[in-house]
Amino acid sequence: MSNEAMKKAAAESAISFVTPGSVIGVGTGSTTNYFIELLGDIRQDIEGAVASSIETEKRLKNSGINTVDLNTTGTLPLYVDGADEATKDKHLIKGGGGALTREKIIAAASSQFLCIIDETKLVGYLGAFPLPVEVIPMARSYVAREFVKLGGQPHFREGFITDNGNLILDIHNFDVLDPATTEKQINQMAGVVAVGLFAQRPADMLLVGISNGQVKRYT
Ligand code: 5RP
Repeated sequence: MSNEAMKKAAAESAISFVTPGSVIGVGTGSTTNYFIELLGDIRQDIEGAVASSIETEKRLKNSGINTVDLNTTGTLPLYVDGADEATKDKHLIKGGGGALTREKIIAAASSQFLCIIDETKLVGYLGAFPLPVEVIPMARSYVAREFVKLGGQPHFREGFITDNGNLILDIHNFDVLDPATTEKQINQMAGVVAVGLFAQRPADMLLVGISNGQVKRYT
């Protein structure tokens, strides 16, 4: 079974968690795009969705789904999003698509965070995927030097501006052995808007599409 088929299977299994009449949070990326397509089929059953990026907002609208400002909702019952890497502890690296800050906000504002991935994303520990960090433009070089001191290799994501008007540094060769502590440490760097480590607010459940066509749940 292809990666795409595994992503689609994970997305399909998330649909059963959508409660009729609710506003749900929707992430960004190719796995979530499958979820958006399927959500379009039941659009009349939900009140709307909060998008984690401009791209997702466009896709939701194209699927006929009402998009809602997070400031007008209370706590969301459900947030569905993909990840670049995940451990069985449900710690994640996200932000390959550059939407990490809005994704973090929606995850924080949701009671249940379902992470939908294919089995290639499941790892023993985080860090093979370069860790995305959103930075205020004037802090780019300073933050990069701080990561060099910590042993990482920061690469500036050339030509990419986030939906919030900021820049992304992708930190290579940065093994994350204690995700919650590392997340706190990076959050304290001046100029960092958000780091793509989701450990202080991990996923509540992983739905992992596996090669035999089934979806494995980690809770
Ligand atoms: C975007 C993200 C995505 O969830 C992550 O990059 C996974 O994307 P895909 O489903 O395309 O593999 O964090 O910022």
